[in-house]
Amino acid sequence: PFLPKKKQKDCIINLKIQKETRPVVNEIDIEDLSSTKVCYCRCWRSKRFPVCDGSHKKHNQLTGDNVGPLVLKKKIP
Ligand code: FES
Repeated sequence: PFLPKKKQKDCIINLKIQKETRPVVNEIDIEDLSSTKVCYCRCWRSKRFPVCDGSHKKHNQLTGDNVGPLVLKKKIP
């Protein structure tokens, strides 16, 4: 079920990242991962978006939310 338009505006997730782009899509080639672990932002508050910079902690404190990053790990053979 969808919320009424006014309520939807109160629920915007992306406050300021690439607002001119619809939708914001980030592509990352797995082969290009340079380290064994990379964290990608899912809270839309990172100043280094799409990479997590820890801003989710402040967001969670302020809002009571519980969001965190997507963590990609590369196994070393
Ligand atoms: Fe957004 Fe960490 S800064 S998930």
